[in-house]
Amino acid sequence: MQKIKFFDTTLRDGEQSPGVNLNLQEKIEIAKQLERLQIDIIEAGFPAASKGDFESVKQIASIVKNSSVTGLARSVTSDIDTAWEALKGSAEPRLHVFIATSPIHMVHKLQKTPDQVLETAVEMVKYASRRFPVVQWSAEDACRSDLPFLAKIVTAVIDAGAKVINIPDTVGYITPEEYGNVFKYLREHVPNIHKVDLSAHCHDDLGMAVVNSLAAVQAGATQIEGTINGIGERAGNAALEEVAVALHTRKDFYQTETNMRLNEIKRTSDLISKLTGMVIAPNKAVIGRNAFAHESGIHQDGVLKEPTTYEIISPELVGVKPKTMVLGKHSGRHAFRNRLEEIGFSLSDEKVNVLFQKFKDLADKKKDITDDDLFALVIQKQVNGDELYKLEALQVQHGMNQIATATITLKKYDGTIVQEAATGAGSVEAIYNTLGRCLDMQMKLVDYRIQAINGGPDALAEVYVKIECNGIEASGRGVAYDVLESSAKAYLNAINRIVLIQESREKQEVI
Ligand code: KIV
Ligand code: ZN
Repeated sequence: MQKIKFFDTTLRDGEQSPGVNLNLQEKIEIAKQLERLQIDIIEAGFPAASKGDFESVKQIASIVKNSSVTGLARSVTSDIDTAWEALKGSAEPRLHVFIATSPIHMVHKLQKTPDQVLETAVEMVKYASRRFPVVQWSAEDACRSDLPFLAKIVTAVIDAGAKVINIPDTVGYITPEEYGNVFKYLREHVPNIHKVDLSAHCHDDLGMAVVNSLAAVQAGATQIEGTINGIGERAGNAALEEVAVALHTRKDFYQTETNMRLNEIKRTSDLISKLTGMVIAPNKAVIGRNAFAHESGIHQDGVLKEPTTYEIISPELVGVKPKTMVLGKHSGRHAFRNRLEEIGFSLSDEKVNVLFQKFKDLADKKKDITDDDLFALVIQKQVNGDELYKLEALQVQHGMNQIATATITLKKYDGTIVQEAATGAGSVEAIYNTLGRCLDMQMKLVDYRIQAINGGPDALAEVYVKIECNGIEASGRGVAYDVLESSAKAYLNAINRIVLIQESREKQEVI
Protein backbone atom coordinates (compact mmCIF):
# COMPACT_ATOMS: atom_id res chain seq x y z
CA MET A 1 0.00 0.00 0.00
CA GLN A 2 1.34 3.44 -0.96
CA LYS A 3 0.97 6.09 1.74
CA ILE A 4 -0.75 9.28 0.54
CA LYS A 5 -0.32 12.47 2.59
CA PHE A 6 -3.03 15.13 2.79
CA PHE A 7 -2.07 18.79 2.58
CA ASP A 8 -4.98 20.95 3.62
CA THR A 9 -5.15 24.52 2.36
CA THR A 10 -8.60 25.47 3.69
CA LEU A 11 -7.00 28.30 5.69
CA ARG A 12 -5.07 29.66 2.69
CA ASP A 13 -6.54 28.78 -0.72
CA GLY A 14 -9.93 28.11 0.95
CA GLU A 15 -9.92 31.45 2.69
CA GLN A 16 -9.43 33.05 -0.72
CA SER A 17 -13.07 32.11 -1.49
CA PRO A 18 -14.99 35.29 -2.35
CA GLY A 19 -16.71 36.75 0.73
CA VAL A 20 -14.93 34.49 3.24
CA ASN A 21 -13.01 36.23 5.98
CA LEU A 22 -12.15 34.20 9.04
CA ASN A 23 -10.91 35.82 12.23
CA LEU A 24 -8.00 34.54 14.31
CA GLN A 25 -10.12 32.52 16.71
CA GLU A 26 -12.02 30.87 13.86
CA LYS A 27 -8.79 29.94 12.10
CA ILE A 28 -7.45 28.40 15.29
CA GLU A 29 -10.65 26.36 15.76
CA ILE A 30 -10.42 25.11 12.17
CA ALA A 31 -6.73 24.23 12.56
CA LYS A 32 -7.45 22.28 15.74
CA GLN A 33 -10.22 20.37 14.00
CA LEU A 34 -7.94 19.64 11.01
CA GLU A 35 -5.44 18.25 13.50
CA ARG A 36 -8.19 15.99 14.94
CA LEU A 37 -8.93 14.87 11.38
CA GLN A 38 -5.26 13.87 11.23
CA ILE A 39 -4.36 16.01 8.27
CA ASP A 40 -0.63 15.57 7.58
CA ILE A 41 0.14 19.17 6.59
CA ILE A 42 -1.95 22.25 7.36
CA GLU A 43 -1.30 25.35 5.27
CA ALA A 44 -2.26 27.95 7.85
CA GLY A 45 -1.99 31.04 5.63
CA PHE A 46 0.25 33.39 3.72
CA PRO A 47 2.29 35.15 6.44
CA ALA A 48 3.51 38.05 4.28
CA ALA A 49 0.00 38.91 3.06
CA SER A 50 -1.04 40.84 6.18
CA LYS A 51 -0.34 41.21 9.89
CA GLY A 52 -3.49 39.20 10.56
CA ASP A 53 -2.28 36.31 8.38
CA PHE A 54 1.13 36.43 10.02
CA GLU A 55 -0.39 36.27 13.51
CA SER A 56 -2.72 33.39 12.69
CA VAL A 57 0.05 31.31 11.07
CA LYS A 58 2.27 31.97 14.08
CA GLN A 59 -0.38 31.01 16.61
CA ILE A 60 -1.47 27.91 14.69
CA ALA A 61 2.18 26.84 14.34
CA SER A 62 2.59 27.00 18.10
CA ILE A 63 -0.75 25.32 18.97
CA VAL A 64 -0.88 22.43 16.48
CA LYS A 65 1.39 19.57 17.50
CA ASN A 66 0.35 16.50 15.53
CA SER A 67 0.16 17.92 12.02
CA SER A 68 2.94 19.76 10.23
CA VAL A 69 2.11 23.47 9.75
CA THR A 70 3.20 25.42 6.69
CA GLY A 71 2.81 28.91 5.21
CA LEU A 72 2.93 30.21 1.66
CA ALA A 73 5.61 32.56 0.29
CA ARG A 74 6.25 34.18 -3.06
CA SER A 75 9.73 33.80 -4.48
CA VAL A 76 11.12 36.83 -2.69
CA THR A 77 13.40 36.80 0.34
CA SER A 78 11.16 39.13 2.37
CA ASP A 79 8.23 36.66 2.10
CA ILE A 80 10.49 33.79 3.13
CA ASP A 81 11.86 35.78 6.10
CA THR A 82 8.35 36.67 7.24
CA ALA A 83 7.24 33.06 6.89
CA TRP A 84 10.23 31.98 8.99
CA GLU A 85 9.28 34.40 11.77
CA ALA A 86 5.75 32.96 11.74
CA LEU A 87 6.73 29.30 11.52
CA LYS A 88 9.98 28.96 13.44
CA GLY A 89 8.08 27.92 16.60
CA SER A 90 6.45 24.91 14.94
CA ALA A 91 7.61 21.34 15.49
CA GLU A 92 8.93 20.97 11.94
CA PRO A 93 9.04 24.38 10.17
CA ARG A 94 7.92 23.88 6.60
CA LEU A 95 7.79 26.46 3.82
CA HIS A 96 5.66 26.47 0.71
CA VAL A 97 7.32 28.69 -1.90
CA PHE A 98 5.99 29.16 -5.42
CA ILE A 99 6.71 30.78 -8.76
CA ALA A 100 4.78 30.62 -12.03
CA THR A 101 6.21 28.50 -14.84
CA SER A 102 3.70 28.82 -17.69
CA PRO A 103 4.54 31.09 -20.65
CA ILE A 104 1.34 33.05 -20.07
CA HIS A 105 2.26 33.82 -16.42
CA MET A 106 5.98 34.34 -17.05
CA VAL A 107 5.39 36.82 -19.89
CA HIS A 108 2.39 38.77 -18.60
CA LYS A 109 2.59 38.53 -14.83
CA LEU A 110 6.23 38.05 -13.91
CA GLN A 111 7.72 39.65 -17.04
CA LYS A 112 10.66 37.28 -16.74
CA THR A 113 12.29 34.89 -19.19
CA PRO A 114 12.23 31.15 -18.39
CA ASP A 115 15.94 31.35 -17.48
CA GLN A 116 15.27 34.17 -15.03
CA VAL A 117 12.38 32.21 -13.47
CA LEU A 118 14.63 29.15 -13.10
CA GLU A 119 17.38 31.21 -11.53
CA THR A 120 14.97 32.86 -9.04
CA ALA A 121 13.37 29.52 -8.14
CA VAL A 122 16.75 27.92 -7.40
CA GLU A 123 17.99 30.93 -5.42
CA MET A 124 14.83 31.05 -3.30
CA VAL A 125 14.79 27.32 -2.58
CA LYS A 126 18.47 27.53 -1.52
CA TYR A 127 17.73 30.60 0.60
CA ALA A 128 14.72 28.93 2.29
CA SER A 129 16.54 25.63 2.85
CA ARG A 130 19.13 27.37 5.01
CA ARG A 131 16.46 27.71 7.70
CA PHE A 132 13.50 25.49 6.88
CA PRO A 133 14.08 21.73 7.25
CA VAL A 134 11.30 21.11 4.70
CA VAL A 135 10.77 23.28 1.62
CA GLN A 136 7.90 22.57 -0.73
CA TRP A 137 8.24 24.16 -4.15
CA SER A 138 5.23 24.83 -6.40
CA ALA A 139 5.17 25.56 -10.11
CA GLU A 140 2.18 27.88 -10.37
CA ASP A 141 0.11 27.17 -13.50
CA ALA A 142 2.22 24.04 -14.01
CA CYS A 143 -0.46 22.47 -16.18
CA ARG A 144 -0.14 25.15 -18.88
CA SER A 145 3.67 25.02 -18.75
CA ASP A 146 6.03 23.59 -21.32
CA LEU A 147 6.83 20.07 -20.06
CA PRO A 148 10.58 20.04 -20.90
CA PHE A 149 10.92 23.41 -19.07
CA LEU A 150 8.91 22.06 -16.13
CA ALA A 151 11.20 19.02 -15.92
CA LYS A 152 14.29 21.25 -16.10
CA ILE A 153 13.16 23.60 -13.32
CA VAL A 154 11.96 20.72 -11.10
CA THR A 155 15.37 19.02 -11.45
CA ALA A 156 17.09 22.28 -10.49
CA VAL A 157 14.95 23.03 -7.42
CA ILE A 158 15.38 19.47 -6.13
CA ASP A 159 19.15 19.95 -6.42
CA ALA A 160 18.71 23.24 -4.56
CA GLY A 161 17.06 21.44 -1.62
CA ALA A 162 13.29 21.17 -2.26
CA LYS A 163 11.77 18.15 -0.52
CA VAL A 164 8.28 18.32 -2.02
CA ILE A 165 7.36 19.27 -5.60
CA ASN A 166 3.84 20.48 -6.17
CA ILE A 167 2.26 20.54 -9.63
CA PRO A 168 -0.79 22.82 -9.40
CA ASP A 169 -3.55 23.00 -11.94
CA THR A 170 -3.98 26.63 -10.92
CA VAL A 171 -6.81 27.43 -13.32
CA GLY A 172 -8.62 24.08 -13.24
CA TYR A 173 -7.94 23.44 -16.91
CA ILE A 174 -6.39 20.01 -17.24
CA THR A 175 -8.14 16.67 -17.83
CA PRO A 176 -7.47 13.57 -15.68
CA GLU A 177 -5.54 11.75 -18.40
CA GLU A 178 -3.38 14.77 -19.18
CA TYR A 179 -2.70 15.42 -15.47
CA GLY A 180 -1.60 11.82 -14.96
CA ASN A 181 0.69 12.21 -17.97
CA VAL A 182 2.37 15.29 -16.46
CA PHE A 183 3.31 13.22 -13.37
CA LYS A 184 4.51 10.33 -15.56
CA TYR A 185 6.54 12.72 -17.69
CA LEU A 186 8.24 14.21 -14.63
CA ARG A 187 8.98 10.78 -13.20
CA GLU A 188 10.62 9.80 -16.47
CA HIS A 189 12.49 13.05 -17.20
CA VAL A 190 13.60 14.32 -13.80
CA PRO A 191 16.64 12.25 -12.73
CA ASN A 192 16.44 13.18 -9.02
CA ILE A 193 12.65 12.83 -8.72
CA HIS A 194 12.97 9.85 -6.32
CA LYS A 195 14.25 12.26 -3.64
CA VAL A 196 10.95 14.12 -3.26
CA ASP A 197 7.26 13.76 -2.56
CA LEU A 198 5.20 14.65 -5.63
CA SER A 199 2.10 16.66 -4.83
CA ALA A 200 -1.14 17.37 -6.72
CA HIS A 201 -3.06 20.63 -6.28
CA CYS A 202 -6.23 20.93 -8.36
CA HIS A 203 -8.81 23.62 -8.87
CA ASP A 204 -12.36 22.83 -9.83
CA ASP A 205 -13.18 25.24 -12.66
CA LEU A 206 -14.27 22.38 -14.92
CA GLY A 207 -15.53 20.20 -12.06
CA MET A 208 -12.53 17.85 -12.35
CA ALA A 209 -10.48 18.69 -9.24
CA VAL A 210 -11.19 15.47 -7.34
CA VAL A 211 -10.89 13.16 -10.31
CA ASN A 212 -7.67 14.92 -11.39
CA SER A 213 -6.25 14.40 -7.89
CA LEU A 214 -7.09 10.70 -8.11
CA ALA A 215 -5.45 10.51 -11.54
CA ALA A 216 -2.32 12.01 -9.99
CA VAL A 217 -2.33 9.30 -7.31
CA GLN A 218 -2.46 6.67 -10.03
CA ALA A 219 0.48 8.36 -11.74
CA GLY A 220 2.68 8.45 -8.64
CA ALA A 221 1.69 11.52 -6.58
CA THR A 222 2.22 10.88 -2.87
CA GLN A 223 0.61 14.07 -1.57
CA ILE A 224 -2.81 15.54 -2.36
CA GLU A 225 -3.66 19.16 -1.69
CA GLY A 226 -7.14 20.53 -1.31
CA THR A 227 -9.69 22.00 1.05
CA ILE A 228 -12.53 20.70 3.16
CA ASN A 229 -15.86 21.06 1.34
CA GLY A 230 -13.83 22.02 -1.75
CA ILE A 231 -13.94 25.73 -0.90
CA GLY A 232 -11.44 28.07 -2.55
CA GLU A 233 -10.75 30.62 -5.28
CA ARG A 234 -13.44 30.76 -7.97
CA ALA A 235 -14.97 27.24 -8.24
CA GLY A 236 -12.77 26.02 -5.39
CA ASN A 237 -10.16 23.33 -4.81
CA ALA A 238 -10.32 19.54 -4.69
CA ALA A 239 -12.54 18.48 -1.78
CA LEU A 240 -10.15 16.53 0.45
CA GLU A 241 -12.94 14.54 2.13
CA GLU A 242 -14.04 13.28 -1.29
CA VAL A 243 -10.52 12.26 -2.27
CA ALA A 244 -10.02 10.52 1.09
CA VAL A 245 -13.28 8.59 0.98
CA ALA A 246 -12.70 7.60 -2.67
CA LEU A 247 -9.24 6.26 -1.80
CA HIS A 248 -10.70 4.38 1.16
CA THR A 249 -13.77 2.97 -0.60
CA ARG A 250 -11.76 1.96 -3.65
CA LYS A 251 -8.66 0.76 -1.83
CA ASP A 252 -8.88 -2.36 -3.99
CA PHE A 253 -8.22 -0.14 -7.01
CA TYR A 254 -5.93 2.63 -5.74
CA GLN A 255 -3.89 0.46 -3.33
CA THR A 256 -3.20 3.39 -1.00
CA GLU A 257 -3.63 4.31 2.64
CA THR A 258 -3.86 7.64 4.42
CA ASN A 259 -3.74 9.00 7.97
CA MET A 260 -7.08 10.78 7.78
CA ARG A 261 -9.60 9.92 10.53
CA LEU A 262 -12.58 9.57 8.28
CA ASN A 263 -15.09 9.67 11.13
CA GLU A 264 -14.07 13.29 11.84
CA ILE A 265 -15.09 14.37 8.32
CA LYS A 266 -18.66 15.39 9.10
CA ARG A 267 -17.72 17.53 12.07
CA THR A 268 -14.86 19.19 10.16
CA SER A 269 -17.12 19.88 7.22
CA ASP A 270 -19.88 21.32 9.47
CA LEU A 271 -17.43 23.54 11.32
CA ILE A 272 -15.95 24.94 8.12
CA SER A 273 -19.34 25.45 6.55
CA LYS A 274 -20.59 27.30 9.64
CA LEU A 275 -17.52 29.49 10.04
CA THR A 276 -17.17 30.40 6.37
CA GLY A 277 -20.91 30.69 5.74
CA MET A 278 -20.46 28.50 2.65
CA VAL A 279 -23.44 26.20 2.60
CA ILE A 280 -23.03 22.58 1.52
CA ALA A 281 -25.25 21.48 -1.36
CA PRO A 282 -27.66 18.75 -0.14
CA ASN A 283 -26.48 16.41 -2.91
CA LYS A 284 -22.75 17.03 -2.29
CA ALA A 285 -20.79 13.76 -2.34
CA VAL A 286 -19.77 12.28 1.03
CA ILE A 287 -21.14 15.02 3.31
CA GLY A 288 -24.28 16.47 1.70
CA ARG A 289 -27.51 16.17 3.69
CA ASN A 290 -28.89 13.75 1.08
CA ALA A 291 -25.73 11.68 0.68
CA PHE A 292 -27.27 8.89 2.78
CA ALA A 293 -30.96 9.54 2.16
CA HIS A 294 -32.82 6.92 0.18
CA GLU A 295 -35.98 8.24 -1.43
CA SER A 296 -37.28 5.58 -3.77
CA GLY A 297 -39.25 2.66 -2.36
CA ILE A 298 -37.05 0.11 -4.08
CA HIS A 299 -33.92 1.63 -2.57
CA GLN A 300 -35.45 1.94 0.90
CA ASP A 301 -36.53 -1.66 0.78
CA GLY A 302 -33.06 -2.75 -0.31
CA VAL A 303 -31.27 -0.72 2.39
CA LEU A 304 -33.57 -2.04 5.11
CA LYS A 305 -32.81 -5.59 4.03
CA GLU A 306 -29.09 -5.00 3.60
CA PRO A 307 -27.50 -1.47 3.70
CA THR A 308 -24.79 -2.37 1.19
CA THR A 309 -27.40 -2.86 -1.56
CA TYR A 310 -27.42 0.88 -2.21
CA GLU A 311 -24.85 2.30 0.22
CA ILE A 312 -21.20 2.17 -0.71
CA ILE A 313 -20.24 4.50 2.14
CA SER A 314 -21.82 4.10 5.56
CA PRO A 315 -22.86 7.29 7.37
CA GLU A 316 -20.80 6.18 10.40
CA LEU A 317 -17.66 6.01 8.26
CA VAL A 318 -17.66 9.79 7.84
CA GLY A 319 -19.01 10.55 11.32
CA VAL A 320 -22.69 11.07 10.50
CA LYS A 321 -24.47 10.01 13.67
CA PRO A 322 -28.13 9.53 14.42
CA LYS A 323 -29.47 12.54 16.33
CA THR A 324 -28.94 11.80 20.00
CA MET A 325 -30.39 13.47 23.03
CA VAL A 326 -27.33 14.03 25.16
CA LEU A 327 -27.99 16.45 27.97
CA GLY A 328 -30.89 18.17 29.65
CA LYS A 329 -31.57 20.67 32.41
CA HIS A 330 -30.67 18.21 35.17
CA SER A 331 -27.23 17.49 33.74
CA GLY A 332 -24.37 18.65 35.93
CA ARG A 333 -21.12 20.43 35.16
CA HIS A 334 -19.21 17.14 35.15
CA ALA A 335 -21.45 15.53 32.52
CA PHE A 336 -21.33 18.75 30.53
CA ARG A 337 -17.54 18.86 30.50
CA ASN A 338 -17.35 15.14 29.62
CA ARG A 339 -19.66 15.60 26.69
CA LEU A 340 -17.68 18.60 25.46
CA GLU A 341 -14.54 16.48 25.58
CA GLU A 342 -16.27 13.66 23.71
CA ILE A 343 -17.21 16.02 20.89
CA GLY A 344 -13.67 17.30 20.74
CA PHE A 345 -13.40 20.41 22.94
CA SER A 346 -10.85 20.45 25.76
CA LEU A 347 -11.48 23.79 27.39
CA SER A 348 -10.13 25.63 30.41
CA ASP A 349 -12.18 25.60 33.64
CA GLU A 350 -12.96 29.25 33.09
CA LYS A 351 -14.41 28.63 29.61
CA VAL A 352 -16.34 25.56 30.78
CA ASN A 353 -17.90 27.66 33.57
CA VAL A 354 -19.04 30.40 31.19
CA LEU A 355 -20.40 27.84 28.74
CA PHE A 356 -22.09 25.85 31.50
CA GLN A 357 -24.11 28.94 32.42
CA LYS A 358 -25.12 29.39 28.78
CA PHE A 359 -26.00 25.70 28.59
CA LYS A 360 -28.20 26.01 31.69
CA ASP A 361 -29.97 29.05 30.23
CA LEU A 362 -30.61 27.11 27.07
CA ALA A 363 -31.73 23.98 28.92
CA ASP A 364 -34.40 26.06 30.68
CA LYS A 365 -35.95 26.73 27.28
CA LYS A 366 -35.04 23.60 25.36
CA LYS A 367 -35.66 20.10 26.67
CA ASP A 368 -33.09 18.05 24.78
CA ILE A 369 -29.64 19.48 24.19
CA THR A 370 -27.91 17.64 21.37
CA ASP A 371 -24.29 17.51 20.28
CA ASP A 372 -25.13 19.99 17.52
CA ASP A 373 -26.49 22.46 20.07
CA LEU A 374 -23.36 22.11 22.20
CA PHE A 375 -21.17 22.53 19.16
CA ALA A 376 -23.02 25.73 18.20
CA LEU A 377 -22.72 27.10 21.75
CA VAL A 378 -18.99 26.49 21.93
CA ILE A 379 -18.23 27.85 18.48
CA GLN A 380 -20.37 30.91 19.10
CA LYS A 381 -18.48 31.59 22.32
CA GLN A 382 -15.06 30.87 20.83
CA VAL A 383 -15.50 33.08 17.80
CA ASN A 384 -17.58 35.88 19.25
CA GLY A 385 -15.93 35.95 22.67
CA ASP A 386 -13.84 39.10 22.38
CA GLU A 387 -15.96 41.32 20.22
CA LEU A 388 -15.53 45.09 20.07
CA TYR A 389 -19.26 45.70 20.36
CA LYS A 390 -21.55 43.50 22.40
CA LEU A 391 -25.30 43.26 22.40
CA GLU A 392 -26.49 44.14 25.91
CA ALA A 393 -30.23 44.39 25.31
CA LEU A 394 -32.73 44.15 22.49
CA GLN A 395 -36.39 44.98 22.36
CA VAL A 396 -38.55 44.74 19.26
CA GLN A 397 -42.12 45.86 18.77
CA HIS A 398 -43.92 44.58 15.75
CA GLY A 399 -47.34 43.62 14.56
CA MET A 400 -49.31 43.22 11.37
CA ASN A 401 -49.86 46.58 9.63
CA GLN A 402 -47.59 48.23 12.23
CA ILE A 403 -44.19 49.83 11.80
CA ALA A 404 -41.61 47.62 13.49
CA THR A 405 -39.41 49.39 16.04
CA ALA A 406 -36.23 48.10 17.66
CA THR A 407 -34.46 49.47 20.71
CA ILE A 408 -30.91 48.28 21.27
CA THR A 409 -28.31 48.72 23.98
CA LEU A 410 -24.73 48.10 22.88
CA LYS A 411 -21.61 47.93 24.99
CA LYS A 412 -18.45 49.17 23.33
CA TYR A 413 -14.99 47.70 23.95
CA ASP A 414 -14.14 50.71 26.19
CA GLY A 415 -17.16 50.04 28.39
CA THR A 416 -19.33 52.88 27.08
CA ILE A 417 -22.97 52.15 26.46
CA VAL A 418 -24.90 53.26 23.37
CA GLN A 419 -28.65 53.08 23.19
CA GLU A 420 -30.70 53.80 20.07
CA ALA A 421 -34.05 53.03 18.47
CA ALA A 422 -35.10 52.92 14.83
CA THR A 423 -37.91 51.60 12.68
CA GLY A 424 -37.98 49.30 9.66
CA ALA A 425 -40.39 47.60 7.29
CA GLY A 426 -39.99 44.43 9.36
CA SER A 427 -38.43 43.41 12.68
CA VAL A 428 -35.06 42.40 11.23
CA GLU A 429 -34.77 45.59 9.22
CA ALA A 430 -35.64 47.63 12.32
CA ILE A 431 -32.85 45.85 14.23
CA TYR A 432 -30.32 46.43 11.48
CA ASN A 433 -31.28 50.10 11.11
CA THR A 434 -30.88 50.51 14.86
CA LEU A 435 -27.44 48.88 14.87
CA GLY A 436 -26.38 51.17 12.01
CA ARG A 437 -27.56 54.15 14.02
CA CYS A 438 -25.78 52.99 17.20
CA LEU A 439 -22.48 52.84 15.35
CA ASP A 440 -23.12 55.64 12.88
CA MET A 441 -22.29 53.31 9.99
CA GLN A 442 -23.95 52.89 6.58
CA MET A 443 -24.21 49.19 5.84
CA LYS A 444 -25.81 47.15 3.10
CA LEU A 445 -27.20 43.69 3.81
CA VAL A 446 -25.94 41.42 1.01
CA ASP A 447 -27.12 38.05 2.30
CA TYR A 448 -29.29 36.79 5.16
CA ARG A 449 -29.91 33.12 5.94
CA ILE A 450 -31.55 31.43 8.88
CA GLN A 451 -31.73 27.80 9.90
CA ALA A 452 -32.86 25.77 12.86
CA ILE A 453 -30.20 23.65 14.53
CA ASN A 454 -31.67 20.13 14.61
CA GLY A 455 -35.22 21.30 13.86
CA GLY A 456 -38.19 21.11 16.23
CA PRO A 457 -40.14 24.00 17.77
CA ASP A 458 -37.54 24.59 20.49
CA ALA A 459 -34.52 24.54 18.15
CA LEU A 460 -31.72 27.09 18.38
CA ALA A 461 -31.81 29.59 15.52
CA GLU A 462 -28.63 30.15 13.57
CA VAL A 463 -28.40 33.23 11.38
CA TYR A 464 -25.74 33.94 8.79
CA VAL A 465 -25.41 37.39 7.23
CA LYS A 466 -23.10 39.09 4.79
CA ILE A 467 -22.86 42.88 4.88
CA GLU A 468 -20.99 45.54 2.97
CA CYS A 469 -19.66 48.81 4.32
CA ASN A 470 -17.25 51.23 2.60
CA GLY A 471 -16.32 48.60 0.03
CA ILE A 472 -15.55 45.93 2.67
CA GLU A 473 -17.62 42.76 2.72
CA ALA A 474 -17.83 40.62 5.84
CA SER A 475 -19.93 37.75 7.05
CA GLY A 476 -21.25 37.16 10.54
CA ARG A 477 -23.07 34.47 12.48
CA GLY A 478 -25.33 34.50 15.48
CA VAL A 479 -26.89 31.68 17.46
CA ALA A 480 -29.67 32.21 19.97
CA TYR A 481 -32.92 30.69 21.09
CA ASP A 482 -34.78 33.60 19.58
CA VAL A 483 -34.60 34.35 15.86
CA LEU A 484 -34.47 38.13 16.32
CA GLU A 485 -31.69 37.90 18.86
CA SER A 486 -29.66 35.63 16.58
CA SER A 487 -30.32 38.04 13.68
CA ALA A 488 -28.96 40.94 15.76
CA LYS A 489 -25.94 38.91 16.92
CA ALA A 490 -25.06 37.84 13.39
CA TYR A 491 -25.18 41.43 12.12
CA LEU A 492 -23.10 42.68 15.01
CA ASN A 493 -20.59 39.88 14.44
CA ALA A 494 -20.18 41.05 10.83
CA ILE A 495 -19.87 44.68 11.95
CA ASN A 496 -17.11 43.72 14.37
CA ARG A 497 -15.20 42.12 11.51
CA ILE A 498 -15.64 45.17 9.30
CA VAL A 499 -14.32 47.44 12.03
CA LEU A 500 -11.25 45.21 12.49
CA ILE A 501 -10.57 45.05 8.73
CA GLN A 502 -10.99 48.84 8.50
CA GLU A 503 -8.56 49.38 11.37
CA SER A 504 -5.94 47.09 9.86
CA ARG A 505 -6.30 48.87 6.50
CA GLU A 506 -5.89 52.23 8.19
CA LYS A 507 -2.71 51.02 9.83
CA GLN A 508 -1.61 49.96 6.32
CA GLU A 509 -1.00 46.47 7.58
CA VAL A 510 -1.70 44.82 4.25
CA ILE A 511 1.55 44.34 2.38
O1 KIV B 1 -3.33 27.14 -7.36
C1 KIV B 1 -2.15 27.43 -7.19
O2 KIV B 1 -1.33 27.48 -8.10
C2 KIV B 1 -1.72 27.76 -5.84
C3 KIV B 1 -0.25 27.90 -5.62
C4 KIV B 1 0.08 29.09 -4.81
C5 KIV B 1 0.28 26.64 -5.03
O3 KIV B 1 -2.53 27.82 -4.94
ZN1 ZN C 1 -4.49 26.91 -5.55
